[in-house]
Amino acid sequence: MEEIKKYFIKTYGCQMNVHESEKLAGMLVSLGYTECSNEKDADVIVFNTCCIRDGAEQKVFGNVGALKKLKKSKPNLIVAICGCMTQQKDRVEIFKEKFKFVNIIFGTHNLNQFKNYLIEYNKTHKNLYEVWDNEKEIDENVEMYRTSKLNAWVNIMYGCNNFCSYCIVPYVRGRERSRNMQDIVEEVKGLIKEGYKVITLLGQNVNSYGNDINDKNVTFANLLKEISMLDGDFRLKFMTSHPKDLTDEVIDVIANSPKISKAIHLPVQSGSSKILKSMNRKYTREHYLELVKKIKAKIPDVFLTTDIIVGFPGETDEDFNETISLVKEVNYGGVFGFMYSKRTGTVAETMPDQIPDDIKHKRVNELLNLSKSMIKEQNKLLVGKTLEVLIEEQKDDGTFVGVTDSGKNVVINENVNVATYYNAKVDAIVGNKLIAKIVK
Ligand code: 5AD
Ligand code: SF4
Repeated sequence: MEEIKKYFIKTYGCQMNVHESEKLAGMLVSLGYTECSNEKDADVIVFNTCCIRDGAEQKVFGNVGALKKLKKSKPNLIVAICGCMTQQKDRVEIFKEKFKFVNIIFGTHNLNQFKNYLIEYNKTHKNLYEVWDNEKEIDENVEMYRTSKLNAWVNIMYGCNNFCSYCIVPYVRGRERSRNMQDIVEEVKGLIKEGYKVITLLGQNVNSYGNDINDKNVTFANLLKEISMLDGDFRLKFMTSHPKDLTDEVIDVIANSPKISKAIHLPVQSGSSKILKSMNRKYTREHYLELVKKIKAKIPDVFLTTDIIVGFPGETDEDFNETISLVKEVNYGGVFGFMYSKRTGTVAETMPDQIPDDIKHKRVNELLNLSKSMIKEQNKLLVGKTLEVLIEEQKDDGTFVGVTDSGKNVVINENVNVATYYNAKVDAIVGNKLIAKIVK
């Protein structure tokens, strides 16, 4: 009997990459490979990389480098690298020169070719490096191997046209391309039928969904409306929203649909209008705060989270203090804080007044500590409240764990069904977990 070949995929970066790894896995499974949990057991190792910050790239270089020994002891091991890093020519050169044991290199635009590359490599055993410079038509014939039985990710668009001055994404992911609305709706229908309970629509900027399609009915608001009207006990999420494109219509659709999650990720990046301008974000502090006010008025139980970059070129103490005051004013449920990282080819790369690392560290720590203490205060207020909880699994000790709409972990010490929504009343908070009882 032929031995079953195994694969191991290491994913870096955002949800988009996590989902694209499901596509890589789908191709591997269709070729007869099975997943393994340890790279030492694998016949194929794929690194799906991220280049959003230097730290992400250094991690990849370190982890790929560490494979050298394994590859020596296992010469038939196939090592493949793809993702955002390989869309940059100079990074591909580094992989080719420093890590000669890497066998297959491809990019984000030709991700769907991986299956062909693997077949080819298995025939010829010749290293194969192919990265497409430009995006092509969206390929709808993708095999997927989903990693969760409850959460499904669905791409609605690819690429980004915004060119925030710090960001590498528009360079490595190309221009915005929206999927056909009917294709998306059909995919979601299939997922609901299969029993998925949380559907997350993915795009770099979901609010500009449909802008590249010549049909005024193809909008993000209409897409949300159509999906939220489907039958089934599911919740609909989406990420990421650019504040400049979040329309009143979208806010109304979210407010009016019980199936649409009230957790909205709305990256502000900075609380200083001066910095926002030089980031090319196309809104001011005042606009953003107005938008938040409007959202809170229409969706009183909204749970807002955000991304913030500290230490952007030219950011003074006053600018950073404006960020801190905005975070307090919005009272976010969660803040993802990042230290600015210079990216080759972006407008901000050559800006004057780059900020020293020690100041970036100090600022990001202050921001994250503030966020932590805000979450603690908010959690205290949840005691006594009834929340909707999706039960995810039963632990060895017999208790069940679930998750709220806003992503908080909940412990339930009663008999409940997995993959089912319940209303539960919060009794206590332990660490960052909510202890709750089912409301009958
Ligand atoms: N440096 C630091 N953080 C960045 N992000 C994007 N580009 C950079 C960069 N050059 C952050 C932004 C974005 C999140 C995904 O990553 O906050 O919203
Ligand atoms: Fe990057 Fe800005 Fe596009 Fe987001 S909207 S991916 S931060 S360029």
